[in-house]
Amino acid sequence: MKIKNICCIGAGYVGGPTMAVIAQKCPEINVTVVDINEKRIAAWNDKDVENIPIYEPGLSKVVDEARGRNLFFSADVDKAIDQAEMIFISVNTPTKAYGMGKGMAADLKFIELCARQIARVSTSDKIVIEKSTLPVRTAEALKNILENTGNGVNYQILSNPEFLAEGTAVEDLMDPDRVLIGGDIDTEKGKEAVEALVNVYAHWVPKERILTTNVWSSELSKLTANAFLAQRVSSINAMSELCEKTGADVNEVAKAVGMDSRIGSKFLKSSVGFGGSCFQKDILNLVYIAKSFGLNEVADYWEQVIIMNDHQKRRFAANIVRTLFNTVAGKKIGFLGWAFKKDTNDTRESAAIYVADYLLNEQAEIVVYDPKVKEEQINADLDYLNTRSEKENRQRIKAVNDPYQVSKEAHAVAILTEWDEFKELDRKRIYDEMLKPAFLFDGRNILHQSSQKAIGFKTYIIGENCDLL
Ligand code: NAD
Ligand code: UDX
Repeated sequence: MKIKNICCIGAGYVGGPTMAVIAQKCPEINVTVVDINEKRIAAWNDKDVENIPIYEPGLSKVVDEARGRNLFFSADVDKAIDQAEMIFISVNTPTKAYGMGKGMAADLKFIELCARQIARVSTSDKIVIEKSTLPVRTAEALKNILENTGNGVNYQILSNPEFLAEGTAVEDLMDPDRVLIGGDIDTEKGKEAVEALVNVYAHWVPKERILTTNVWSSELSKLTANAFLAQRVSSINAMSELCEKTGADVNEVAKAVGMDSRIGSKFLKSSVGFGGSCFQKDILNLVYIAKSFGLNEVADYWEQVIIMNDHQKRRFAANIVRTLFNTVAGKKIGFLGWAFKKDTNDTRESAAIYVADYLLNEQAEIVVYDPKVKEEQINADLDYLNTRSEKENRQRIKAVNDPYQVSKEAHAVAILTEWDEFKELDRKRIYDEMLKPAFLFDGRNILHQSSQKAIGFKTYIIGENCDLL
């Protein structure tokens, strides 16, 4: 089957970059990305390609090449669905905030709405692709909705989870470790649908890296991959606390352990805690699924990854309070970074939010500099927690455009995101302009203890033994 028109529902961090790369690599296919958020669509269509709503290195160039040629962004969801032979569903699947499974299960209401809309609008056969991360066996529910409410057209449902990481999305999409496609490989129609999607990726991905499985394996592999990755971060973070107590250095430990080829060196960077929209949500979902099958030991095992991560964020914040003579009330604390990692403007579940919330409870005054995050987003992140009034959040936290304003007359500076530019800052100037003793808390392990000491800072670096503890 030759695909001429693709529709992607959801123009977010996954839908936008993924479809931009497909469009760039497959000039003969028209790719339309649709969203109910008209503001987001307008931003994707902004004349100045630098104003697209998602910051990812290299993305504006890809969008610039394909947009208007065979890449389109539109709020007319029905039309794009109707015209496409292949529909990707790439909408958000957040943790449920209400009812059964609250705080754990994935909220599938946006997925179900998409399925119902596809069923209502479609007048020709469609391949429907789960691009969103979903609980195992969601395809069954999708099939049920599509086949029972549709106009008698045929649907094939595939699972094609996305493994891109933010900050390196374009690189990951251009050169993926693997592309995973789950389909109904026991039937001819199912095989044809899988083949059609393989052919899209085969435009630029070597065939041996395109893996086909049954649908359930594909759905579960995505949750498994995220759980394994997050588990590595929690494992090294658990060791970071032990390093601080024993004089071991977490970087040295990570290097020594990572050189074992069975373990590998990636994802062993100790930090103030992992953030991002995926890890926590997907592990909670996994825990919920395990519990729903009565697999309590499996559930407890994975839940511990989250418990460790929460502990890491909390102990970083508590350490600031303790070090600043047990009070930060009325004290200016400077934050370098707010995004959940470098090279993204995404702040979802960023450790910075939780550290700030803890310090605001202690009545600190926080000033933030992040090269890609605006004050409006910082306020929204804190308001979402509902810990205090919106007015109080705005009184106590401010964002600035100059990193040196963060440290000026501050009691302490904390590094919450590992932006490269933070390594280049004039630390002597920062020291001179801070109140003394000048405390520096490195939550990303990007500084070297000895050089900070030489300037005069009192420094805490995560995973290193230091005199502040
Ligand atoms: P996002 O919130 O950035 O984007 C989702 C978009 O879907 C939003 O713009 C929303 O308006 C739109 N939407 C919701 N319901 C809709 C509907 N009925 N019709 C049209 N548009 C609708 O989310 P994201 O980060 O792109 O994540 C999407 C999915 O991909 C999630 O399941 C996530 O777990 C998964 N995922 C995310 C990443 C990542 O790095 N962000 C990586 C891999 C997988
Ligand atoms: C993750 C997965 O990597 C990706 O495959 C999946 O598709 C989506 O979820 P993402 O959340 O975008 O990607 O970024 P990732 O690089 O995995 O980082 C997640 C968090 O872990 C960040 O806060 C990062 O700072 C932290 N991290 C990562 C560490 O603290 N240490 C590490 O060694 C690696």
